[in-house]
Amino acid sequence: MIEAKAVNFAYHRGEPVINDITCKIEDGEFVALLGHNGSGKTTLSRLFMALVHPRSGDIFVDGDNIEKLEPADLAHQVGYVFQNPDLQILEDTVFAEVAYGPRCKKLSETAIKEQVQAALQAMGLENLADAYPRTLSFGQKRRLGVAAALALNPRTLILDEITNGQDEQEKDNMMDYLQKLNKEKRITIILITHDMNIARQYAKRAIVLNDGNLVFDGTTQDLYNGVRDLKEWGLTQPIMAILSAAFIISAPTVEDFCEKLCLKEGGER
Ligand SMILES: Nc1ncnc2c1ncn2[C@@H]1O[C@H](COP(=O)(O)OP(=O)(O)OP(=O)(O)O)[C@@H](O)[C@H]1O
Ligand SMILES: [Mg+2]
Repeated sequence: MIEAKAVNFAYHRGEPVINDITCKIEDGEFVALLGHNGSGKTTLSRLFMALVHPRSGDIFVDGDNIEKLEPADLAHQVGYVFQNPDLQILEDTVFAEVAYGPRCKKLSETAIKEQVQAALQAMGLENLADAYPRTLSFGQKRRLGVAAALALNPRTLILDEITNGQDEQEKDNMMDYLQKLNKEKRITIILITHDMNIARQYAKRAIVLNDGNLVFDGTTQDLYNGVRDLKEWGLTQPIMAILSAAFIISAPTVEDFCEKLCLKEGGER
């Protein structure tokens, strides 16, 4: 569980970036954190991870105030995947990079190997275990970041723009895997994304930031119901929401939509 209570934050002596934010993310939720560029999404997630601390207000992780903690203290509870994958790379091989966290936890070599291989496989990187991480493509580096976070088996994953640089197939694989983790292991997922289709398809709840203010906290269904003007927050309607409304077909995925459309058309003929 992650809770923010009346949190305010500014970098150095700059303008306020997070304004009086209060929200609570319960265990097992799948939440999309949305908002235009510079709205404060990354900053809020950095506050959740104790990478920075509030100017005022409090953050609680599993009920404990994290004001005196550092990211390493939270590493076994919250896995964090940076928006910029280059910032996270520390080791000389993909395997060592993913093993870094489990090694810090002083797990046995057998347990480390098992966890690393499972994480690499989940992210489709098993054939790159010996590669030098900096030579990977941007998309592969994003998946490496996710694999490194997964290898620590955290209860919560905060993922900042992880679908950037992935082709459609890689995106689907990654998101389907995260959905499975969320459903089967009740891992809490906080997904920061600009991709409205992904947010609609995978997240049950959305939190929207606009210029550092929390302007929406509710279900994604409610967010994309066509009633709100999302443009004022710099967001767009997901294509599937537009199509669903136009054809009066409720479908979570393109495949579902096509199937239902065909059935409808077939029935009407
Ligand atoms: N290290 C920093 N020092 C000073 N200002 C910063 C720093 N990082 C972010 N900011 C500023 O804080 C505000 C919020 O930035 P943040 O990166 O949290 O937004 P974001 O919603 O993640 O944006 P994006 O969608 O582009 O990733 C912006 O005005 C940004 O310029
Ligand atoms: Mg960001």
